[in-house]
Amino acid sequence: MDRVKVNGKFFKKQIDREAIKKEIKRLAAEIDRDMAGSNPLVICVMTGAMFFAADLLREVSTECEITSVRLKSYEGTGSTGHVSIGGMLKRSEIEGRNLLIVEDIVDTGLSLSSFVSELEESAPASIRIAALLSKPDARKYRVKTDYLAFEIPNLFVVGYGLDYDGYGRGLKEIYILDDNQL
Ligand code: IMP
Repeated sequence: MDRVKVNGKFFKKQIDREAIKKEIKRLAAEIDRDMAGSNPLVICVMTGAMFFAADLLREVSTECEITSVRLKSYEGTGSTGHVSIGGMLKRSEIEGRNLLIVEDIVDTGLSLSSFVSELEESAPASIRIAALLSKPDARKYRVKTDYLAFEIPNLFVVGYGLDYDGYGRGLKEIYILDDNQL
C-alpha cells in the first residue's frame, strides 16, 4: 500500500520494510561492536518503540537485560511541551549499569533529553541511545543518538510503532503525512 488513511488523515509511504530491515542489521552490528560483554540494560520506550525494539533486539547478539518505560509528550500531531515518565526505574536498577535507550523517533528532543537527565541522577556507567527516526529540523533540545536508522523531514509519520492518537502503529512500513488530503 502506497497510501493509507489513518484516523481520518492520508499518509503516503516513506520507508519500506526492506530498508528498515537493512538499517536494523547495521545498528545491531554496531551495538554488538560497542557493547558486547558490558551487560547492558536496554530500556525500550513504549509504546512507539515496540516493533523497532522487538526487531532490533532479536538481531543483537550481546547478552542484555531488557525493560521498558512509558514516555508521553505528544497529543495528535504535535508536542505538548512537557514529558510524563511512566514506570520509572529505581536507582538500584540503574546505578553503575551501561544503559541503551531504544526510542522510536527524536523530534524536538524534549522526551529524550528529559529522560536522560532523569537517568543521570541515578549514576549509570554509560547511556547510549538507539533511535529509528530523527527529524533534525525539529530539534530544540540536544540529544546524542549513538545508533540512528533514518533522518526524515519535519513532517508527521505513522507506522511500525508510531501512531496518530493511538492509530497506525501496526502498519508494517513508515508513512508520512500526505500534502494532498483529498
Ligand atoms: P520529542 O519529545 O519532541 O522529541 O518527541 C518524541 C516523541 O513524540 C516520540 O517518542 C513520539 O512518541 C512522538 N512523535 C514525534 N514525532 C512523531 C511523529 O511524526 N509521529 C508519531 N509520533 C511522533
